[in-house]
Amino acid sequence: MKRKLILGIESSCDETAAAVLLDGKKLLSSVIHSQISVHAPYGGVVPELASRNHVEMITPVVQSALENARVAIEDLDGVAVTQGPGLVGSLLVGLSFAKALAFAQKIPLVGVDHIAGHLLSVFLGKKNPPFPFIALVVSGGHTSLFRADDPKTFTLLGRTRDDAAGEAFDKVAKLLKLDYPGGPIISKLAQSGDPQAIPFPRARLSKDSLDFSFSGLKTSVSNYVHNKKSNKNDNISDICASFQEAVVDVLTEKAIHAAKREAISTIVLAGGVAANSRLRDKLVTQGAVNNMEIFLTPNQYCTDNAAMIAYAGFHGNWHNSSSLLEMDAYSRSPLLEI
Ligand code: KG4
Ligand code: ZN
Repeated sequence: MKRKLILGIESSCDETAAAVLLDGKKLLSSVIHSQISVHAPYGGVVPELASRNHVEMITPVVQSALENARVAIEDLDGVAVTQGPGLVGSLLVGLSFAKALAFAQKIPLVGVDHIAGHLLSVFLGKKNPPFPFIALVVSGGHTSLFRADDPKTFTLLGRTRDDAAGEAFDKVAKLLKLDYPGGPIISKLAQSGDPQAIPFPRARLSKDSLDFSFSGLKTSVSNYVHNKKSNKNDNISDICASFQEAVVDVLTEKAIHAAKREAISTIVLAGGVAANSRLRDKLVTQGAVNNMEIFLTPNQYCTDNAAMIAYAGFHGNWHNSSSLLEMDAYSRSPLLEI
């Protein structure tokens, strides 16, 4: 059944977000409350503080999304909510709110996988990729390569065996005594650094592997920083640029390799780390060299938002109001199961 006016809700980590999407195409509003200032003093997300902040913010955020879209709660045809993966305490805030709203309004509900949301967020942009495509989803929690055959059919081709790329950015920032989240800060500092200054390792794993590993790189940066006194000429921008280049090289190579292996010439880049300009540039350049078309998620939809949840929900499996109360949050994505 076609859903017209969908409210999307996202609360899987440290953003409380709501959005209203019309006919699966037209985004009427997208409101994001970031908890960065709550977690920054701790250098990372504190789960208990995250859930408490979601409880405080969920009502005002949803209200603003409805107001900005100029729609009343009675106008909604359905609610799409992030069901997992993420911090269960945080997910439950959005999920309980969505269930209550759908139940009270007697409208259907759909649970959305956060990774599927990221994967489809490119469709919020002006230019839509054709199916099938290869999707590189790189965020603070995930680094995976998928083959997408339609808006519901995704096949996992590779994933990180340890840290996610965004997590590596955040951990390296922490050891360089930079603020949280580290990705945007490292990427800014890297602009004035030399990416070839320090030859940090690129973990390619076996020749044909589409899996990733970033923990060795993080250890290597840590060792470098702790032995810094012996490297007189280094500066923090060079460390940032060299680290970033190592991450970007591996992500780009593996995405191109996945496309070649699957004989697909379209690659989509999504997730928080997709906001990284060096990664965007390199993937576009390498894509051109290999005759592939690259579709970049618009910057404002790379990091967590509810617009992508509403979009993915539009294509999801809807529950009617009698079965929706059984829906539960999950911390591990079924999309990552092999
Ligand atoms: O998608 P997202 O908002 O949350 C998760 O689902 O994890 O991604 C957040 C991650 C953080 O690790 C952050 O450091 C990283 O995305 N990030 C970046 C940039 N902007 C955000 N990493 C590298 N360069 C950026 N410009
Ligand atoms: Zn995310």
